Order: sequence, then C-alpha cells, then structure tokens
Amino acid sequence: MSAAIITSGLSRSFDGCVAVDSLDLEVQAGEVLALLGPNGAGKTTTVRLLNGVLTPDSGGATVLGMDPNVDGDEVRRRTGVLTEAAGLDDRLTARENLEFTARMRGFTVAEARLRVDTQLDRFGMQSMAEYRTVGFSTGQKKRLALARSLLHDPEILFLDEPTSGLDPAATRDVTDLIGSLAREHGRTVLLATHFLGEAGRIADRMAVLDHGRLLAIGRPEDLAAELWDGTPAEIDLGEPATDATMSIVGQVEGVAGLEAGATGLTVALHDREAMARVLAALAAAGTSVYGASIRRASMEDVYFALEDSSLQRVAP
Ligand SMILES: Nc1ncnc2c1ncn2[C@@H]1O[C@H](COP(=O)(O)OP(=O)(O)OP(=O)(O)O)[C@@H](O)[C@H]1O
Ligand SMILES: [Mg+2]
Repeated sequence: MSAAIITSGLSRSFDGCVAVDSLDLEVQAGEVLALLGPNGAGKTTTVRLLNGVLTPDSGGATVLGMDPNVDGDEVRRRTGVLTEAAGLDDRLTARENLEFTARMRGFTVAEARLRVDTQLDRFGMQSMAEYRTVGFSTGQKKRLALARSLLHDPEILFLDEPTSGLDPAATRDVTDLIGSLAREHGRTVLLATHFLGEAGRIADRMAVLDHGRLLAIGRPEDLAAELWDGTPAEIDLGEPATDATMSIVGQVEGVAGLEAGATGLTVALHDREAMARVLAALAAAGTSVYGASIRRASMEDVYFALEDSSLQRVAP
C-alpha cells in the first residue's frame, strides 16, 4: 500500500492556541482512517490544512504526492470534502445545488445532469430534487452535501462528521456507503467523527487526537494489545469464582491476570490459545462452565482507554 496522505510535523495555532501540534500521520491509499478526538481536538483544523484552506505554521503535508498549499486546485480536483457545515445555497433546489457544483467543476451540462442524477439516486433524494434546500432538515442537507462531495469521483474523501444530524437509519446507510466507497471503489477516506460504533464498523485504523496531538494511531486490536496486557476473556460459572478456582486458573500457562466477577471471572490471556487450557483446567477440577468468550476490544473501548490515559498524564 502507498500513502495517499502524509503529514509531517504539521502544526497550526490560532492566536497562540495550538490547534494541531506536530502531527505525523499517514493514510494509506484505499483505507478508511477514523480521525477521532473530543471537541476542539483539532480534527477539523487537520482537514482544513489538508485541503489547503489553511496554511500550517510549521511542518507540512502531501496529498496524493502534492502540497495542498502549492497545488491546491489539483488537490481539490482529485479529492472531495464534506465540511462540518453543509454549505448549500438555500435559494437553489437540491438539483440546482448539485448542478451548480458539477458545472463549477467543469462538467458539460449533459455530463453534469447525468452525475447529479446518479448521486440523487444513490442518496434516495430524487423526490426532493426540485425543492429549495431552505426547507431541508439538517440530515437532508447533510446527505445532499455528501452527494455533492462525490460528484467528481474523488480519489480521497475528507469527511468531517458526515453523519452528525442524521437519523439512525440514515447514519447506517451513509456509513455503509462510505465503507463501500473504500472497499469496492478503492477510495481513501479520512473520516472525522464522534460516532465510534459506526466508525468501528468501517474504519481500518483509528487515529486519536487530543489538544492537537496524536495520542495513537493503528488498528483497534493492535492498540488494544498495547493498552492491555493480554486479551480479556469472560468465563461464566453461574456464580462468583471461588478462591480455589481462581488459584487453578491463575496457574494456567498464558494467563496474564484474572479478576472474579458476579457470575464467574474475567481472565487476561497472553494468547487466545490459552483459553483452551483454562477450560481444560476447569473441567479437570470438576467446575461447571456455562459460557466462555474472548472479548474483542471495540474502537470505543480503545478510544476511552486512550482518553483516560491522556487525562491521567495531563492531571496534576
Ligand atoms: N478559525 C479559527 N479561529 C480561532 N480558533 C480556531 C479556529 N479554528 C479552530 N480553532 C481552535 O482550534 C482548536 C481545534 O478546533 P477544531 O475545530 O479543529 O476541533 P475539532 O476536533 O474539529 O472539534 P469538534 O469535534 O468540536 O468539531 C479549538 O480550540 C478551536 O477553538
Ligand atoms: Mg470539527
């Protein structure tokens, strides 16, 4: 895989307040990278720097091998962006908004019409096409703006909170669409979002920003392995584990730690294969086991663990 986006020491402040702080990031071609972080973490500023809308104070970025502050037009020709505010012209209808953008992008009238129809179909918006967007709900505007960002088949999509304001079904549809753009059409997606569950479904890797700094980047499972010593597994005994059971499990090879719970115990396994040894040891001791499962850390688990560890570092 080659890198579609690279940032190196990318930094930007506003009135002495650091918004993006020495950011080193690589987004591989064809991947969905979830850009996560609390309000004010620097996600939108990062996207704006990558679009060439803002200039960095120091460091820099390349997008498809180009510097967005030098080759901004070309970068914008080959990339699409959905900004936090939909930015539609409310005097125009949905169709006119899209056709205007398509014409601005240099498509002929006929080609623009074709592309607009394709996107209106894709987003289920044909029935609203002739209405002025002034009366559209937040979610309808968002969907239209997303349709607009895809008009020119961009190689890279910068999506800043594409599902905020969408209802659950629309959130799922838009998330699935973003996932399929990457998987089936090879698009690269930088997805700034607060929706960890949705991001977890489609993103290959996650990058977590806090106060403009990159806390971590990687696949959730790899970050989880770094954060926690071992893979957590739940063992259901139907009752709290006795001291004797805890002692038996604690001696099994590959068990990094264990904790009693109301209906059994949680074990940290150095490797997943240790689960079979734990179950064998329990069976040999005549202990009834009603269920056993390895808990896969979600993007949400990893995000909150990173946030917690960051807070501890900042705390006095
Ligand atoms: N144009 C601006 N002028 C002044 N300060 C700005 C500007 N843009 C961003 N900032 C500041 O930079 C920091 C990062 O903001 P940014 O919008 O990048 O955060 P974000 O991660 O996108 O947050 P959110 O999740 O709320 O969208 C914030 O402290 C913000 O106040
Ligand atoms: Mg933002």
